[in-house]
Amino acid sequence: MDFKSQVNEYQNRVKTALDHWLPKTCMHPQKLHEAMRYSAISNGKFIRPLLVYATGDALSLAREQLDGIACSVETIHAYSLIHDDLPAMDDDDLRRGKPTSHIQYGEAMAILAGDALQALAFYIIAHDTKLDVDSDTRLKMINTLSLSCGSRGMAGGQAIDLLSIGKSLDIAQLEDMHIHKTGALIRASVIMSACASTNIPESTLEHLDHYSKCVGLAFQIRDDILDVEGDTEVIGKQQGADFALNKPTYPALLGLDGAKQRAQELHEEAMDSLSSLNHQADMLRQISEYIVKRIR
Ligand code: IPE
Ligand code: IPE
Ligand code: MG
Ligand code: MG
Ligand code: MG
Repeated sequence: MDFKSQVNEYQNRVKTALDHWLPKTCMHPQKLHEAMRYSAISNGKFIRPLLVYATGDALSLAREQLDGIACSVETIHAYSLIHDDLPAMDDDDLRRGKPTSHIQYGEAMAILAGDALQALAFYIIAHDTKLDVDSDTRLKMINTLSLSCGSRGMAGGQAIDLLSIGKSLDIAQLEDMHIHKTGALIRASVIMSACASTNIPESTLEHLDHYSKCVGLAFQIRDDILDVEGDTEVIGKQQGADFALNKPTYPALLGLDGAKQRAQELHEEAMDSLSSLNHQADMLRQISEYIVKRIR
């Protein structure tokens, strides 16, 4: 199967699973459930679920083991975007070519949709009966997910981002911010998936972990690049938003070429991390390449 078809298959799979886990819009309170679905099942790339499934494929895991994990990282991601777009944060009106949640539903409902999506992520890992792992492993997944989105992960990174507006960060500080705000959840996507494997050698886990750190950072660098040279129509969000808010970004610090070079280096480092894995890890390899070349 070619890359595009495989991506489509993973995306369709996670969308079906999200439809199962998200409360139906006919359920009370309808507005909130509508807002949750509006942001969780829309025209996103589903990169984090793709990494969950591709890691699972590299380790020969059954797809049924991965659907709940894929949904949990995507609902955390959807929540993070709703809050990221709020007036108190990046104040954006456009997301995936549609009005952002607070424009569509009002600020209060957007905040609550984010809160509820975050809670749902943990509910899914706790309750997924298709996830055939022992309780210790389930707890380990919850631990990984909670660390990745809390104050030592995504929320912490977002705090650094907002506290850094207008300041000139050095490269180490910028990397620290990106690793937390975006890298942590991407890393958790790979690690939670790997946790579902009962017999994974410690060295393979380390290699996958290193891969995930590289692609997580590369992903945010590419996001920063697209803010400069992307097309609003294609990226589905307002181009130039970082510049307008004076956000510290890779292109601002290293220039566009420097940022692209850093992303490419990280892709190569990610490839090296997978060198001991066989062809079953090819989707992970192709996702890494996609991450640094994507135009949306
Ligand atoms: C955007 O994430 C926010 C970042 C963490 C860079 P994505 O680029 O994964 O957003 P969607 O889900 O595909 O819209
Ligand atoms: C957001 O980073 C990272 C999150 C944790 C949501 P950005 O603020 O750069 O994401 P976009 O560009 O709005 O998608
Ligand atoms: Mg932001
Ligand atoms: Mg933003
Ligand atoms: Mg951005």
